[in-house]
Amino acid sequence: MSVRIEEDGRLFTLQTCHTSYQMKADEKDVLLHLYYGAESGGSAEYLLTAADRGYASNIYDAGEDRTYSLDALPQEYPVSGTGDMRSPALIVRTEDGTEGCDLRFKGFRVLDGKYGLKGLPAVYAEEKEAQTLEIVLEDAGGLVEVTLLYGVLPDPDIITRSVLVRNISEQKVILEKVLSANLDFPYGSFDLITFFGRHAMERCPERTHVGHMELRVGSRRGHSSHQLNPMMILADQETTERAGSCYAMQFVYSGGFCGSAGRDQFDQTRMQLGLMQEKFSYPLEPGEIFTAPEVIMTFSAEGFTGLSRNLHDCIRTHICRGSWRDRVRPVLLNSWEAFYMDFDGADILALAEQAKSLGIEMIVMDDGWFGDRNDDLRGLGDWFVNEHKLGGKLGDLSRLIHEKGLLFGLWVEPEMVNEDSDLFREHPDWAMTIPGRKPVLGRNQLVLDFSRQEVVDEIYNRICRVLDEGNVDYLKWDFNRSIADVFSRTASYQGKVLYDYVLGLYDFLERLVQRYPDMLIEGCAGGGGRFDAGMLYYTPQIWCSDNSDAIDRLRIQYGTSFGYPAGCVGAHVSIVPNEQNGRITPLSTRGITAMSGTFGYELNPEKLTDLEKREIRQQIVRRNRFAEIILKGDYYRLTDPVSSDLAAWMFVSRDGKEALLNVVNLEIHGNRPVSYVRLNGLQKGASYVDEATGKVYPADMLMQAGMPVLITVPAFPPTGEYLSVQIFLKKLD
Ligand code: GLA
Repeated sequence: MSVRIEEDGRLFTLQTCHTSYQMKADEKDVLLHLYYGAESGGSAEYLLTAADRGYASNIYDAGEDRTYSLDALPQEYPVSGTGDMRSPALIVRTEDGTEGCDLRFKGFRVLDGKYGLKGLPAVYAEEKEAQTLEIVLEDAGGLVEVTLLYGVLPDPDIITRSVLVRNISEQKVILEKVLSANLDFPYGSFDLITFFGRHAMERCPERTHVGHMELRVGSRRGHSSHQLNPMMILADQETTERAGSCYAMQFVYSGGFCGSAGRDQFDQTRMQLGLMQEKFSYPLEPGEIFTAPEVIMTFSAEGFTGLSRNLHDCIRTHICRGSWRDRVRPVLLNSWEAFYMDFDGADILALAEQAKSLGIEMIVMDDGWFGDRNDDLRGLGDWFVNEHKLGGKLGDLSRLIHEKGLLFGLWVEPEMVNEDSDLFREHPDWAMTIPGRKPVLGRNQLVLDFSRQEVVDEIYNRICRVLDEGNVDYLKWDFNRSIADVFSRTASYQGKVLYDYVLGLYDFLERLVQRYPDMLIEGCAGGGGRFDAGMLYYTPQIWCSDNSDAIDRLRIQYGTSFGYPAGCVGAHVSIVPNEQNGRITPLSTRGITAMSGTFGYELNPEKLTDLEKREIRQQIVRRNRFAEIILKGDYYRLTDPVSSDLAAWMFVSRDGKEALLNVVNLEIHGNRPVSYVRLNGLQKGASYVDEATGKVYPADMLMQAGMPVLITVPAFPPTGEYLSVQIFLKKLD
C-alpha cells in the first residue's frame, strides 16, 4: 500500500520502497508535516514540540495556549494569513488588496493510479504502479478550497505534488503566489545544491550552507533558464556522492520558477518550489480552479548517486513518452556548425552524401531554410520553405535524403517572430510588446503571444504544413530569447499571461506529439535554456548546450546528470579548435563525451582528414554498440570534473552484466602519478573482464581500491591534452 490512512483518517503516510512521508491533521484541523526520509514505521508526531515562544503569533482558536504557533510548527502547505511569518506557499488576496487565508482540513480521497493535470505535463504511471492522495483544505474565511495532490510511485521512490486552488467565494480572488511543494524540517542542518549557469555553460552545481536566511533561486525569464535550473537538492552537511541523506525537488514546468530554502529562528528548515511569484498574479472568478504545476520529490540515504538514480528512473519511464522513449536515437549530422545559415539544397545533399559514407543515420537542416532567413535579423514566423534558396521543394529534398537511406530532420523556432517578417507585418499585435513602450529585443526577435489560442493555432498550422510536405522524422524545437515584455492584447489581466503562455506552448506540443507519434522531437533554447522535466514530457531529448567543446561539455553534462538521465542529453561532436571557446581536444575525447548523450555530429565532414573520417566510422560503430547501456543503464558520477583533474563516469546495465567506464584527463603533468578511479554500481562478489585487454578484475576491489588509470601521451597525435580512455567491462559468469 503506498498511501496509509490511520487515526480515523487524520494521519497520512505515503510509503515508497525506501522512503516514508507523513502528515497529520491535528485537533485544530491544521495539516502539519511530520516526516520525510528513510522508510520508517509508526507515527512521527513525537517530533512536534510545544513551547511558549516569545513574540510568536497564535491562531485564535488556540485560545490562551501560547505554545501553539504556526510560526513554529512544521506545516504541509503554509499560507499567508495564519501568523506563520516564514515564506508562504500560497498568498490569496481580494480585489481591495486584503491578504488573508487560513486553510483547515476538510477531507481526503485515495485513488489508484497517478493523477494527471489539465493542460500541464505530469508524471504518469500505470494504475498498479502508483496511488494518489488528495487532501482537501478549506479557507476558514471562505475564499478558496485547496486540494493538495500527492502521487506516490513506490518503485523509483518518487512522491509528486501539485495543488489545485478553487475560488469558493462570491467574489473575484487573486492568487499572488502559488507554490507546488513545501517541506518543513524541525530538525537537521542542511546544504542546498543548486545548478547555476549561463548560455554555453549551463547547470554548474553549487553547494551552499542553509543559514538563517532564505536562499532563493529562480527564473523570471519566462522559461526555466540557462541561469538556474528548476531542480534543487537539500542534503545533510555530511552527504557525499556515495553516502548520506538528501532530498530533491524538481519542477515539471518550463516557465519561470522559484525555489528556496531557509532556516528559521528556531533552526528549522523550510524548502519550497513552485511558480515564480514575480510577474504572476492570477485572478480567479467564483468557481474557477487554478492548477499549480507538478513537483517531483525524492529522498535517498545513499548520497547523490541514489538521488540521481531515482530522478533518472522517473524521467526515463514516467515523464518521457512516445515511440522514441526506449529507442536508441539515430546518429545525426546537424548543419548548424557546418554552414550556419549559409547553405543551399545542394550543400544539404552533399552533407547527406558525406554523412552516409561515415555511417551517420540522419541529416538535420538547422536554421535558415524558411522565409527570408539568411541571418538572424529576419524571417522568424514565416514558416514557408525558401524554395529559391533550397533550389526546389522541401518534399524533393527530403525524398532525396530518404532515398540515400537517411532520416531527415528540421529546425523550427515556433514561439518567435522577427519584426522583419511577413507574419509581423500582418499581425503586429501577435508579438508580446507593451503598448506605448519600445519592445525589448533579444537576438533581434520578439516573442509571440502564445497565451492566445489563435496565435498558437496559426503557427501550428503553418508548421504542420511544412512537416507534412517534408515528411520530417525529427524536429528541433528552439527558443532563443527570454520573455521581457509581458503583455497580451486580449488578456483580461496581465498577471496571467506568462502562465497562460506556457499552457499555450504545452497545447501546441501536445497536439504535435499526437499528430506525429513517430517524429522525434528535441527541445532547445539557445542550447540548454529550457532543460526541464516539463519539456521532457513532450521532447524526450533536449540540446544540452550550444557549447560543444568536450571539456566544457563534460562539466555541463556532469551538472545536468544530477537530475536528468544521459538519454535525454543532446550531445554532438564538433570540429577543433572548438567554435565556442577555441579549445583543441582529441576526436576520441569528443566522441566519448557526446556518446554520454544522444550522439551526433555538428560539423562539415568535407573539412575532415581521411584519418579523422576513419576514426569517425569506428566511433559510430562503438557508439552503436554501447548505445543501449547509455540509454537504459544506471549512471554513476565517479569524480567531480570541476575540482578533480580527471573526469570519470560510468554506466552499468540494469542486470549488472556490462559496464562502460569513461575517463578524461583534464590536466597534464610531468611524470604523472597513476590515478585510481573508484568504480560504482558493479555486482558485489562478481568479477569483470576488460574486453579490450582480457584483464580480469574483482568488482568489490574496483569499487573499493579503484581501477589504475594511467593516461600516457602517445607519439601521435602529438597533443597530450585531454586524452581519454573508455573501458568496456563484462561480468564473468
Ligand atoms: C540556437 C541553437 C543552435 C542553433 C541556432 C540556430 O542557438 O541552440 O543549436 O540551432 O539557434 O539559430
